[in-house]
Amino acid sequence: MLNWLFGKKEQKKIDLSRIGIDIHSHLIPDIDDGVQTIEESVDMIRKMQELGFRTVYTTPHVIWDCYKNTPDTILSGLADVRLACKTAGLTVEVHAAAEYFIDEHFTELLHTPGSLLTLPGNRVLVELPYSTPLMNTSETLFSIIEMGYTPVLAHPERYTYFYADPTIYKTLCGQGCELQVNILSLGSYYGENVQKMADWLLKHELITFLGTDAHRMQHLDMIGKGRNADLIAHYPFQNEKLMNL
Ligand SMILES: [Fe+2]
Repeated sequence: MLNWLFGKKEQKKIDLSRIGIDIHSHLIPDIDDGVQTIEESVDMIRKMQELGFRTVYTTPHVIWDCYKNTPDTILSGLADVRLACKTAGLTVEVHAAAEYFIDEHFTELLHTPGSLLTLPGNRVLVELPYSTPLMNTSETLFSIIEMGYTPVLAHPERYTYFYADPTIYKTLCGQGCELQVNILSLGSYYGENVQKMADWLLKHELITFLGTDAHRMQHLDMIGKGRNADLIAHYPFQNEKLMNL
């Protein structure tokens, strides 16, 4: 069934219009480790429009130890980006949510009604630590569901401590969590282990959404490389469903 993925390799031009909406990017200047200037932001959003996106959600980090972003910092930055895009004649829609690191501050926000910036359908984009697991990942993600949100776990293919037993992702999906893989993980950008994990998630049909996780233009330039075009043309990613919510 997945012969197109694991069979012959043939490079095609990438067309992201089938994906339509990006749900993970860092395009608001100088509030996290993403773009640093408004010009960089406009250049990247122009490139995203050229790649085929019609809607872009930018999702600044909220990591209370280093990026103390709030709806105010994010939405005022969004207003500047939108104005610059309009002046530049871009037609792609730009919205904002956030990428929440699961820490004590996130737990406070989770229990304070109306304080989370969400993706369409009351979805919350969350990330886990990269090298040390939380004590109770599945319980923590389930608590998000209990509060009435759908957790979208950012780049599950990058959490190295789950490589030995990735079946946790079946458990998470079974309890209502959605998984967002980075487009660049489908190729070799983050290394062989990340690509293998992305392949495992593809084979088990556990990926709900793709995202660029674009922090700089280099990320967008790399998206067209390798087998990404074939994958995007064939796999039933769900991004487009979010466009009508
Ligand atoms: Fe990110």
